[in-house]
Amino acid sequence: MKITFKVYRFDPQSGKAPYLQDFPVEVTPGMTILDALGEIKAHQDGTLVYRRSCRSGICGSCAMKINGFNRLACETQALLLKQSVIHVEPLPGLKPIKDLAVDMEIFYEALARVKHWLINPDPPPTDKERYQSPEDFKKIEVSTSCILCASCTASCPSFWADKNYLGPAAILKAYRYSFDTRDKGFADRVGALDNKHGLWRCHTIMNCTDCCPKHINPTESICHLRRMTVENKY
Ligand code: SF4
Ligand code: SF4
Ligand code: FES
Repeated sequence: MKITFKVYRFDPQSGKAPYLQDFPVEVTPGMTILDALGEIKAHQDGTLVYRRSCRSGICGSCAMKINGFNRLACETQALLLKQSVIHVEPLPGLKPIKDLAVDMEIFYEALARVKHWLINPDPPPTDKERYQSPEDFKKIEVSTSCILCASCTASCPSFWADKNYLGPAAILKAYRYSFDTRDKGFADRVGALDNKHGLWRCHTIMNCTDCCPKHINPTESICHLRRMTVENKY
């Protein structure tokens, strides 16, 4: 089946405004949006810019807005969208660099603000790793599967309105570590969380939860962290 891909084109050096360019592609069963972009780049326009690495839904680099919804291009089969025209645009809310590639700096900066790593000043045991029971791991297991694709943060209206808002992905990481039984870093993170650009900026619209390719519920994590923050205070 022939599908027309309307692909967002933007080159800051050209001085031209962004526009959508049509690319007809013969789509076969199983072909993903990433495959179609590869086809376009190989046979129609080698200058097309987009990110990808693993092609398996693992690296998180191919997230983009496909027919109005943030998804992984490598996991989205073109025929399953059941459309003869498919719009492919960069993730919204992040500054486009060129074509489908966006500037991820504020996304990573938000992660650093919540200290997205295990904090524990106690020296680890010398003969084994820090112990965590299977039951305790279960409590954070879903959040550990985040691949930092940024689909959630880029779909969040609160983030669109406030670029200093941490966004759901960074808050999810704060949850993943703060609820890890080996971590003692909540006091180091709470300053970044407990302010108007942190937990309280979320309006529970749940766009983030709707679009996560790993079926994570960042909104729920935000609610758990709000409770932890309040309990910690009083
Ligand atoms: S929570 Fe989901 S949508 Fe957000 S960055 Fe992680 S994997 Fe992507
Ligand atoms: S639930 Fe909160 S974090 Fe998620 S999209 Fe809505 S406002 Fe953003
Ligand atoms: S290319 Fe790695 S997630 Fe799509």
